[in-house]
Amino acid sequence: MPHPIRLFASTAMAVALGTLTLSGVAHAQTQPAAPMPSAPMPAAPMPAAPMPSAPMAAPMSSPTMSSPTMPSPTMASPTMSSEPLSAQLVDGLQGVFGTHAGRRRSGAKGFCAVGDFVANGNAERLTTADTLQRNKRSAVVARFSIGGGSPMAPDNGPSVRGLSLSLDGNHEFVLINTPVFTARTPESFLAFLKVRAPDPQTRQMNAPAIAAANAANPDWMPQIAYLRDNPPPASYATSAYFGVNSFVFTNRQGQKQHARWTFEPVAGRVGLTMEERTAKGPTFLEAELRERVARAPAEWRVLLQIPRAGDPLNDAVAAWPADRQTVEVGRLRITGVQAAGMAGACDAQMFNPVLLPAGIDPSDDPILAIRAEAYAVSLSRRSQ
Ligand code: HEM
Repeated sequence: MPHPIRLFASTAMAVALGTLTLSGVAHAQTQPAAPMPSAPMPAAPMPAAPMPSAPMAAPMSSPTMSSPTMPSPTMASPTMSSEPLSAQLVDGLQGVFGTHAGRRRSGAKGFCAVGDFVANGNAERLTTADTLQRNKRSAVVARFSIGGGSPMAPDNGPSVRGLSLSLDGNHEFVLINTPVFTARTPESFLAFLKVRAPDPQTRQMNAPAIAAANAANPDWMPQIAYLRDNPPPASYATSAYFGVNSFVFTNRQGQKQHARWTFEPVAGRVGLTMEERTAKGPTFLEAELRERVARAPAEWRVLLQIPRAGDPLNDAVAAWPADRQTVEVGRLRITGVQAAGMAGACDAQMFNPVLLPAGIDPSDDPILAIRAEAYAVSLSRRSQ
């Protein structure tokens, strides 16, 4: 019996679902093409997972920010909108990044790749998932991306990088290169986005409002701090990627175990130096990976991190301590990158973080629960 949310995997079904069940979609507000702040990239906290490379950066005292009167803090609270929360979140992304026809509302800048995943069997004690049985080889369609809805997001900026994977079309992963997400709940993420929407007239973000909201929403800080303390990757192949949300793994005996994904680069974690950030400029990641893969596959060790009793199981802003047991369950290889300047086959598709084989189920993390629906809204709006 397929998990009901798997229906989102089909592009056609996703659009249909967006139309049928997401009643606000057809009337959702769209923004003018580029209401982006004209300001240069802020140097500091570049929050948000599927976040912006530009406006997100919400520095607390950047001179590029406008300084209107100090507003009251934006607290995460239920909204009064009649629109489904998933559609409000996509509105929130559009409010920050604008709309760009044909593009995802987050992960807008990206490209497709192919490869394979081979399981080593170590996960068999945790799960019956067919993709994780010993020596099982799955064909992989992948997409590398930069967080946020800007197709022009700079590759040398301090924002989030993404990796999405489809294993034989029946097990999908949507990962980011920070071990935590932007906010603990969808409501908090919506508040995060709303306060960063630039003024439609001036195209400036409201720095005092952002600073006040940051102070009022401590769940935003773990990712802001991680991005502040870790340089942007020098290559998509030298970044780790994290599942962030936990999943529930069920084995042949029916025993259940929460765990989280980490994809650890075999080439090691290598970030850009300050000099390289300037020298490489805003567009190098795609060509770098294509050239690298032409020489040899880019590889990741695929790990499951197992929590200890008492670790939070549904909190996307709380990473588990590094001393928790990890089980290496297989290896991902990227062997080809789409032709330069060409649209990739995966560009028009949607990756679904809860498209899972039997033996793996979503946890009750509220962030995970809303993702597939928000992605379907984005898919349904891509033509706008
Ligand atoms: C409430 C939480 C979240 C919301 C509202 C959200 C929203 C979105 C939306 C609207 C898209 C565009 C989807 C499409 O058009 O196919 C997207 C893409 C993406 N998101 Fe999220 N997201 C959330 C959480 C996360 C988390 C927790 C992660 C990773 C751990 C993540 C990683 C990504 C990545 C990598 C992409 C690009 C996907 C691709 O290449 O197709 N997001 N997100």
